[in-house]
Amino acid sequence: MYINIKINIMKKFFLTALASLAVITCMGQHAYMAGKGVAVFYPANYDASAHSPSPIFERELYPIGEVPSDWRIRPVYSQSDKEQVVTLHVGEDVDLYGGGEVWGSLRRNGKTIEFWNMDNPYYSVDNGTHLYQSHPWVMGLRPDGSAFGIIADNTWRGKMTSDSDVVFTSVGPAFRVVVIEKESPQALMQALVDLTGNMELPPMWALGYQQCRFSYYPDTRVKEIADTLRYHKIPSDVIWMDIHYMDKFKIFTFDPKGFSNPKALNDYLHSKNFKSVYMIDPGVKVEKGYWLDDEGTAKDYWVRKADGEHYIGKVWPGPCHFPDFTRPEVRTWWSTLYIPFMAQGIDGVWNDMNEPAIGDGPEVSMPKDNIHRGGEGMAQGPHLRFHNVYGFNMVRASRDGLLLANPNKRPFVLSRSNFLGGHRYAATWTGDNYSSWEQFEASVPMSLTLGLSGQPFNGPDIGGFVSSTNANLLAHWTALGVYFPFVRNHTTENSVAQEPWAFDKQTLDICRTAINRRYRLMPYIYTLFEEASVNGMPVMRPAFMLDAKNPDFRTEEKAFMLGGDLYIIPRWAPEVAVPEGNWNILKLEDEDDGVQPYLAQRPGSIIPMANLYQNTTELRTDSLTLLVNPDAEGKATGVLYEDARDGFEYRDGQYVRYELKAETTCKQITVSISKMEGKQDAQPRMLRIGYVTDNKVTYSPWTSGESVSMKVVKDKTNTLDLKKLTFVTIDKK
Ligand code: GLC
Repeated sequence: MYINIKINIMKKFFLTALASLAVITCMGQHAYMAGKGVAVFYPANYDASAHSPSPIFERELYPIGEVPSDWRIRPVYSQSDKEQVVTLHVGEDVDLYGGGEVWGSLRRNGKTIEFWNMDNPYYSVDNGTHLYQSHPWVMGLRPDGSAFGIIADNTWRGKMTSDSDVVFTSVGPAFRVVVIEKESPQALMQALVDLTGNMELPPMWALGYQQCRFSYYPDTRVKEIADTLRYHKIPSDVIWMDIHYMDKFKIFTFDPKGFSNPKALNDYLHSKNFKSVYMIDPGVKVEKGYWLDDEGTAKDYWVRKADGEHYIGKVWPGPCHFPDFTRPEVRTWWSTLYIPFMAQGIDGVWNDMNEPAIGDGPEVSMPKDNIHRGGEGMAQGPHLRFHNVYGFNMVRASRDGLLLANPNKRPFVLSRSNFLGGHRYAATWTGDNYSSWEQFEASVPMSLTLGLSGQPFNGPDIGGFVSSTNANLLAHWTALGVYFPFVRNHTTENSVAQEPWAFDKQTLDICRTAINRRYRLMPYIYTLFEEASVNGMPVMRPAFMLDAKNPDFRTEEKAFMLGGDLYIIPRWAPEVAVPEGNWNILKLEDEDDGVQPYLAQRPGSIIPMANLYQNTTELRTDSLTLLVNPDAEGKATGVLYEDARDGFEYRDGQYVRYELKAETTCKQITVSISKMEGKQDAQPRMLRIGYVTDNKVTYSPWTSGESVSMKVVKDKTNTLDLKKLTFVTIDKK
C-alpha cells in the first residue's frame, strides 16, 4: 500500500515535470503524442501564459512519445495582421460533425461557426452561426468507419470552417491543436472523455419530466402546477423557479410577497415527491444596502473595465456588477453563497444569462477590453480571452457550491452558456428556441451535435420558448422530446400556457402517454447515463453510430438512437434511414394515437422496463419487464445499472450492474439476469418477458427469481419496413 502511494507520488512528480518541460520547450513549433492516437501540435510562437490552464482538458497534457511520421492530419500555422490561422487538411471523403451547440444540419461539411458565446434568441442573430456556447471541436468519419477529432485549445474569439480543410482562426495569440485518430466513432467518444473528463452521474430525478415557465408566480401557483401534474397523472419530478421568485431580480434573495417562505414551498414540493430548481444569474444588482452587492464591492470581486473601475452593465434587475469567475477567491466566495440558499430545500440550480448576456453592452455582452484578473497560474487577461469561458467558470463554482451545501447529494446545475469540457460541471439546454415546427425539427441535430461534442446531458425547451406554442406542436414535441436526455417543458413570459393540460384532452393524453413511456424506460435510460458518465457515449446518438461504414446513416438527422438499442423514428419522418436486420417496432399496450414516434428495438437486445409510476422516488424495479427482440439465433443481451439514484456511494462500489441474457431452445426463450458487478445486494424481483415481434409484444406471466422463460413461436425474421408504418402529414404552422 505504502509502496503504491510512493510510486503514485513519484509518477505524479514525473508527469508534472514532463508537463512543465513541454511548456518550457515549446519555443519552436513542435508536437508530441499525449496518448494512444492523440497528437498535440504547438505553433512556433506559442505563449502558454495566454492559454493555460486549459479549461478543456481535465489534466494537463504531457508527452509520451513522438508523433509518427505517417500521422495523417497535421496543422499548418500561419498568421495575418489580425488573425492566427490553423489549417488542417482532412480530405474530401470525410463526413464532419461536432462544433457543440450549433444551428443547422448534423453533417457539418462546408459550415462556418464562430466561437463567441451569445444570447441569441431563436438563433436569429448572425444566422445562428454562434449561440450560447463554444466547442472548438470537430470530428470526422472516413468511408471505412474510422474517426478523427480535432480540438483547438483556444478560448479567445475565433471561428471554425469545417470542410476538406478544417480552418481555425483566432484574434488571440497562436494556440495548440490536438488531433485524435481512432478506429471508430465510439472509440473517439471514449478518447474525448479521457481528455476532457467525465460527466458525473446525475441524480435520477434530473432525468424525469420537468415543468417550467417564465415564471410561475407566486408560490401558490407553483403548488397548483405540482398538484395539477399529479391530478392528471403525468409522471414528473421537477418544478422550476424562474427569475420572479427573486426580490426585484436580485440573486440569492426571495420575493417577500410571492415567495415569502421558500422552505415551506420546497417542503410542500418534496412531500409530493417533486424537486425544485431555482435560477441564479451572474449579474448582481448594483444597490447600496443589498448585502451581496455590498460584499462583492467591498471585496473587489467584480470584473473591471480597462480603466480599473468596476464594470456595470444592464440585465434583469437593471445595472449589475459581474463576478470575476477567473479568480479562485471569487469562485470560492460564489460557492459559499449556495450554502444558505440550498438550505431552503432547493434541489438544483439553473445558471442563465452567463454568456454573459448584457442588455446595454457591445454585442449583448461586456466590452472586450474589460479585465479578468485570473490567479492560480492563470494570467490576467482581457474579456476577449475570457468571454467564452465566463459561463464555464461560473458553473464550475456553482457546482462546487452545491457540493459544499449538500456534500452527499449529486449536484444538478443547468447552464445556458458553457465551453468544451464544461460537461464536467453542468447539463445544458439549447437556449431560447422558438415555438415553431422548424425549431422543433432542428432540435434533433442540435442535441445530437452537443452529444457528439462531449455534452451528453442536453435538450431543448419542449414546446418552444419564444412566442406561443399550439396543441399540435406541443403534442409532437413532447412525444419526441421524452427520448432526449433532458426533458423540460418551458416557455417565455406572456406566452399562452404550455403545460400538457393547457389545450385539450387529446393533447393531454398524448403528452401523458409519451411521459409514461419515458418513465417506464427509466431503468434503460439511467443505465445509458451511467454508460455516458464512464465512456462518453452520448445518451442520444446519431444513426451513424449503428454502422459507421454505412453512408446512408451519415446524414440522418430526423431519426436517432436512444442508447444502442432503440431507434426513434418520428411520426412525421417517413423517409428515414433504415437499419438492416430484424428491428421490430415496440408496440406497447397504450393505444396508437398517431403522434408517438415509432420505437424500433435492435435485434439481439434486451431493454429493461419498469411498471408505471409517477416520479423517480417511487420507481420500483422489484418487478421488471424485459423487452426482448432476439436476433436470428434467438439470442439477445442487455445491461441494467442500479444504485441509490443519488449520493456518491456508487463510487465505493455500492451499485449493481447486471448482465441480461436471452437464449432460445426448443421453442422456449429464457431470459436470465445475473449479477455481474458491484457491491449492492441483488434485490428479489418479479420478472416477465416482453417478447417483441413484428406485430406485438407478448408478455410472459410474472415469475420470481433470476430467470424467466416462455414458449415462443419463431417469428419469421422481419426487416424494418417503413411502408408498413403509418406516418402523418403535418400542418407546420
Ligand atoms: C432567458 C432564459 C430563459 C428564461 C429567461 C428569464 O431568456 O434563456 O430560459 O426563462 O431568461 O429568466
